[in-house]
Amino acid sequence: MQMSGDAKLWLSLGVYVTRSGGTETFLLFSQDIPSQNLGFVDPKSTTLDLSIAGKDYVIHQSPTILNRPGSTTGAVVWKITPLVADWLARPDNILWASGILSSNSNVLELGCGISGLVGLVLSPLLSRYTLTDQSYVARLVEKNIDENRHLQNPSKPSTSSQKRKGKSSVIQSKADLRFLPLDWELDEVASSLTGDDNKAQSFDVVIACDCIYNDTLIQPLVQTCADVCELRSADKNATDKPAVCLVAQQLRDPEIFEGWIKEFSRYFRVWRVPDIALSEELRSNPGLVVHLGILRDAAETRNQS
Ligand SMILES: C[S@@+](CC[C@H](N)C(=O)[O-])C[C@H]1O[C@@H](n2cnc3c(N)ncnc32)[C@H](O)[C@@H]1O
Repeated sequence: MQMSGDAKLWLSLGVYVTRSGGTETFLLFSQDIPSQNLGFVDPKSTTLDLSIAGKDYVIHQSPTILNRPGSTTGAVVWKITPLVADWLARPDNILWASGILSSNSNVLELGCGISGLVGLVLSPLLSRYTLTDQSYVARLVEKNIDENRHLQNPSKPSTSSQKRKGKSSVIQSKADLRFLPLDWELDEVASSLTGDDNKAQSFDVVIACDCIYNDTLIQPLVQTCADVCELRSADKNATDKPAVCLVAQQLRDPEIFEGWIKEFSRYFRVWRVPDIALSEELRSNPGLVVHLGILRDAAETRNQS
C-alpha cells in the first residue's frame, strides 16, 4: 500500500522506534517524569466542564461506576484525552498537514470511555467517527454525545434540552458520530464496524487514548489495533493510503510500556510524534506521549515473532 508523499515526509520527521522497543523505553523513562496522580481529570465529580478548541463541553462521568469491582477505568475522563482532542482539532496538526486526516476520513476510537470527547471534538471535521469501548460505558457516552451534539452543529439544539422543553425528540442520531460496543478480548473486528454497506469498509485512522495500563490487556489491544488497520487491505473502495494507528498515553510503568511497545512494534512500524509537533499543553506535561503506527506486511510481522 502506498503512502502519500506528504505523509512520508512527515513520518520521516517523527522519531522512528526500533523494533525491540528497548531504546524507546530507555529514552522515555530516563526523562524526569514527575509523580502525578493516576491521571484522572477529576475522579470525584459527576460532571466536568471542559473547554476544548474554543467550545465548552459538559461531560457526565461516574465515580460510582469507577469504584465498582472489575475494570471500569473508562467511567471517568483521563487527563491526556482532552489534550489530545484539542491537539487533533488544530488545523496545523501534523495529521491534517500530512493528509493522514482529512474531511473524508473515517476514524475508529478504541477504549473511548464515557466521554466520547475526541469524537465530539473531531467528528464535525471528518466523514465519520466511531467510538468503541466495553458496553458499560454505553449509557453515559450516548448521553454525552446527545447533550453536546449542539456544539457540532449550532443550528441543532441537543435532544435533552428539547426534552426539557417538552418538545418531541425529532433529532435523530447523526450517523457520523456513534458508539458501538467493542471488547478487545471478546469481540471480532469486522468491516461492519464502519456501519457503511455502500462505501467505506475500513478506517483511515484508529485512535486509542490512555489504554495502556495493564499488562494483560496489551496483547488483545494491539491485536485489535492490527485487525482494524488490516480491514484496509480488503477494502476495494478505499484509497491506497494505509490506515494509521495513533496511541496516546501517560507514561506510568516502564515494564508495561516496554511490553506494549514490543508487541505494537511486532505488527506496526512505529514513530513517536516529536515534541515540536505536539501542542504546548501536551509538551508541557512530561510523561504524555503519542505514537503512530503503520501496519507491517504479514511476512514482516512473522519475522518479528
Ligand atoms: C484509562 S481508561 C481511558 C478512557 C478514555 N480513553 C479516556 O482517556 O478518558 C481505559 C479504557 O480502556 C477500556 N478497556 C479496557 N479493557 C477493554 C477491553 N477488553 N475492551 C475494550 N475496551 C477496554 C476501558 O473500558 C476504558 O474506557
